[in-house]
Amino acid sequence: MRTQKINLKTLNKTYFENFETELTVSSPGRINFIGEHTDYNNGFVLPTAIDKKIFFSFRKNNTIDQCNLYSKSYNAFLQIDLTNVVISNEEWENYILGVIKELQNKNAVIEGFDCIIESELPIGAGISSSAALECGIALGLNSLFNLKFSLEDLIKLSRDAEHNFVGTKCGIMDQFAVVMSKKAHTLLIDCKTLEYELIPINIFPYKILLLNTNISHNLATSEYNKRRRECEIGVEIIQKKYPDISSLREVTIPILEDLKSNLNDTIYNRCKYVVSENNRVQEAVEKLKKGDLKSLGTLMYNSHQGLRHLYNVSCSELDFLVDFSLQHENVLGARMMGGGFGGCTINIVHEEYTKEYIKEISSAYKKVFDIDLSAIEVSPSNGTHVEYH
Ligand code: GLA
Repeated sequence: MRTQKINLKTLNKTYFENFETELTVSSPGRINFIGEHTDYNNGFVLPTAIDKKIFFSFRKNNTIDQCNLYSKSYNAFLQIDLTNVVISNEEWENYILGVIKELQNKNAVIEGFDCIIESELPIGAGISSSAALECGIALGLNSLFNLKFSLEDLIKLSRDAEHNFVGTKCGIMDQFAVVMSKKAHTLLIDCKTLEYELIPINIFPYKILLLNTNISHNLATSEYNKRRRECEIGVEIIQKKYPDISSLREVTIPILEDLKSNLNDTIYNRCKYVVSENNRVQEAVEKLKKGDLKSLGTLMYNSHQGLRHLYNVSCSELDFLVDFSLQHENVLGARMMGGGFGGCTINIVHEEYTKEYIKEISSAYKKVFDIDLSAIEVSPSNGTHVEYH
């Protein structure tokens, strides 16, 4: 029984040996078929969790206020004093600290615990390792201390943790998809009402292939928040003539055209992208339900062009991968995924051709950028859940 506090200097692997786990949680990354940068505009998204995850082992340590965490994958330690949860200089720590603080703000009684974290998710790849981490901690502590928060509360407070501790003013898509997804389904989420529909997905004989550029431009956070602000500015201008409109979700292309002369080019392009992307998500759902994968693929390509030319969140590495795929008929669709400025593309590739395609595109990418591409095959999976208690 551990009742003694230990010092961060003496916190090492030995402390976590022979770990008597009380609770294990698995928390997946997510993909998004279509609907990028629409979530914080109250729009629609079509994501799902994947079969690549973060695993957590928790135990209470019988202290009132000390938490000891060990990230096996990064061989890093974190010690938290529950009486003083503050922002750290280490980004990964803030996802955890932020969730604990948000729980405390909601009067949750959390006591000392230990946790080992092991991740299969690459960081900065646009597959939401951050939401997987936040939601794994949130659902884990909810169970360990019997906090009785609903899944929706845990999703929202994980999102708030990212706003308040990490500084990214993200939407709700990642946390929602990471928690609510079901195996072999994709989720159509209405980010205004949080109503959702689970849509069965069977894309045989095609596969979902992620191609990781292995770059992550550090513009990501500042440009992300800037895009969000630009959309808000668009709405403020539109509201002067259409006072009932509260977000880009309610804007149509004719409304935008009507106000084109009031919006500068940048704001007009941002709004046009979001309005068109919302339409594309709804069309994509229709196509998916009919099994029309070719049209789904075309919509994905159109989404990428919007992200590239109107929303300006792509980069040359992502564009190269999408352009390359356009010349290959065995790839039905491809687009950048997530916030942008690096990370992965999502590709729908014929299964018989996948191996050959990875080889071809990796070698072409290496030639141009001198960077190794990573390929990850994924399938739609269950969301964050407690595996053992
Ligand atoms: C990041 C954010 C999400 C969403 C996407 C872009 O992943 O966390 O909320 O805005 O970017 O679609």
